[in-house]
Amino acid sequence: MKKNHFIVVSVLLLFLLLVLGVNSVSAQKPAYLDVNQSIEKRIENALSLMTLEEKVAMCHAQSKFSSRGVPRLGIPEVWTDDGPHGVREEVLWDKWSAAGWTNDSCTAFPALTCLAASFNPQMSLNYGKAIGEEARYRNKNMLLGPGVNIYRTPLNGRNFEYMGEDPYLASRMCVPYIQGVQQNGVAACVKHFALNNQETNRRAINVEISDRALHEIYLPAFKAAVQEGNAWSIMGSYNKFRGEYNCHNDLLLNKILKNDWKFDGVVISDWGGVHNGDQAVNNGLDLEMGTSTNGFTTDGTTPYSQYFLAAPYLKGLKSGKYTETVLNDKVSRILRLIFRTTMSANRPFGKFVSPEHSEIARKIAEEGIVLLKNENEFLPIPVDKYKKIAVIGKNAIKSLIVGGGSSSLKAAYEVSPLNGLIKKYGKDHIVYSKGYDSGKTEYSKEINSKVNADSLIKAAVEIAKTADIVLFVGGLNKSKFQDSETADRESLDLPFGQDKLIAALLKANKNTAIILNSGNAVSMPWVKDVPAIVQAWYLGSEAGNAFANVIAGDINPSGKLPFSFPKKLEDNAAISFGQISYPGDGEIEKYKEDILVGYRWFDTKKITPLFPFGFGLSYTSFEYGKIATDKKVYSSDDLIKVSFTLKNSGKVDGAEAAQVYVSQPKASVVRPLKELKAFKKVFLKAGEIQTVEMEIKAKDMAFYNENAKEWTLESGEFILRNAASAADVKSSISISIK
Ligand code: BGC
Repeated sequence: MKKNHFIVVSVLLLFLLLVLGVNSVSAQKPAYLDVNQSIEKRIENALSLMTLEEKVAMCHAQSKFSSRGVPRLGIPEVWTDDGPHGVREEVLWDKWSAAGWTNDSCTAFPALTCLAASFNPQMSLNYGKAIGEEARYRNKNMLLGPGVNIYRTPLNGRNFEYMGEDPYLASRMCVPYIQGVQQNGVAACVKHFALNNQETNRRAINVEISDRALHEIYLPAFKAAVQEGNAWSIMGSYNKFRGEYNCHNDLLLNKILKNDWKFDGVVISDWGGVHNGDQAVNNGLDLEMGTSTNGFTTDGTTPYSQYFLAAPYLKGLKSGKYTETVLNDKVSRILRLIFRTTMSANRPFGKFVSPEHSEIARKIAEEGIVLLKNENEFLPIPVDKYKKIAVIGKNAIKSLIVGGGSSSLKAAYEVSPLNGLIKKYGKDHIVYSKGYDSGKTEYSKEINSKVNADSLIKAAVEIAKTADIVLFVGGLNKSKFQDSETADRESLDLPFGQDKLIAALLKANKNTAIILNSGNAVSMPWVKDVPAIVQAWYLGSEAGNAFANVIAGDINPSGKLPFSFPKKLEDNAAISFGQISYPGDGEIEKYKEDILVGYRWFDTKKITPLFPFGFGLSYTSFEYGKIATDKKVYSSDDLIKVSFTLKNSGKVDGAEAAQVYVSQPKASVVRPLKELKAFKKVFLKAGEIQTVEMEIKAKDMAFYNENAKEWTLESGEFILRNAASAADVKSSISISIK
């Protein structure tokens, strides 16, 4: 062979070897590591390589907030964190106490009630994206939120973590939140599935409810989260339903969630919500967390290896008591979550406490604030209008990010209402007095001593007398028995003597506006006497800035109430039926109001609420045109196209959350007088007029038929109404379903 030929042949051979070599390397690469393979292929392959021990090890916690991966195969751990208003600080491996890191102070976003009050799904998407970025940056692959339990009574200590009383609103608002979170390769964990509508006795109460109320009121937001949001995980709730704990409730988890809704994600227990090994194995739970803790205050006493889904599970598998098919289903779901998150090729890097996140938090806060009363245009208060503004009330300075239970946050910063107002109006124009005290500790139930309370009122009154106007900033806070986990509120009233203080302030200065922070309705004995009332929720890091922008008129309020405010506690449906209906007799609770929750009850029973669902004022005014539809007669598969004109008839730009309610006057079952089926937030310049268009799926007007166990849309007449709130219908139109 000539020298040249030899070189050419050698090069060719080398090339061939290289190609073959590369191929054989890629042929060796197991499918589960190959991001070009489908997730289902990767799962199948990983499963085939795992031992029984490795599989079981994935099904229970290894620390307070994490569970094991498969170290031998390079499959990472699952790291969860609360949720739902920001990414919770790191805790110790095995305890609830803070780990004391210095780099885990997050952006605190507004509470979910505030998000719901924005009536703006775009805000949900922004919220989800931003909180998902923070979770991703912190290396979490499961964010424990959003919460979508329905607001059944104004006493539930955790209502602030949920999205109000209406299943349609909660559905529309939770879907973009979930999508936003998951775009970051972080699973949203929708909670608490299901019927966790109170904190009193939450770990024992057995809910009795009709199928209809279950499907029409309490499940739709979860269903939308699964089917439209494609949520990758869901958390079982502490309570029981029809005798079985919900973290291993066969009907809820196996039949409804996994079989009917085709949920392919992970069912994770609430912390300490698992009570029975056989049910934990067979009734649809995939991942067991927090066993032997009370889910809130007590540290674990049971080693992780003794969890129901740990050593006892392995033993049962080996003895043939449990099948490997069920185990493989659990592990497949956990692997699916890992391949969707940590082992996904497209996972972005995340961001933490960025200026964009602050802006998102502030905008949501601004859009969620609800103006409840504004006599003679008391608000806004332009800068320089008054020399002296008295700010009274503990909530103007108290942290409302800390407390409340598992959603408590260590925030990078929090602008208090007082600081927001000082920044806006200048410190020479603001005077502050506490007026009432709400104590230091978050978890103690504290009453002011009379002497102290009276002297605080006296000092506040002195300041109020000399001020041009008074802004009272009060409400609830995140202490136990208020808006907080593990216990419900004990009354509808404002705590810490605030009603007495408000009465004294009004005597001293009738120009006293009331601004309330809460995630719940409160009673307002002074409602007729005050010129203005603002519902300001819990607004997170940007609270003071958002708040001052609205008070000063830089932002025109556009939030609407996601739940009804009753005049008195007994006007609430659940509470009106007595103890067995709320909070239950200690063991059982019967949802006696059935489907008539929130405005469905007020409407149907003709009870006037203090403020209705969907209500909120603006600094401008809106004129609604008459509602029209594209057709008169529809079939059940049709989309009903609704339209009407909306005009900003005032002098400033603003936004209106226009609502469309549906009713079926003659039905074979009781139907609420009306139900929300569409809404749209419309931004209009002063004087601008727009045609607002919305769509309603005819199917969505169906009711849950308990006999047939399916949704039924009866033919006949339906009425569609456009409205500014559940109590402010503008016009109606009749259509029929054939
Ligand atoms: C709460 C959950 C929370 C979990 C972990 C439980 O007590 O109910 O909402 O995600 O603790 O903190």
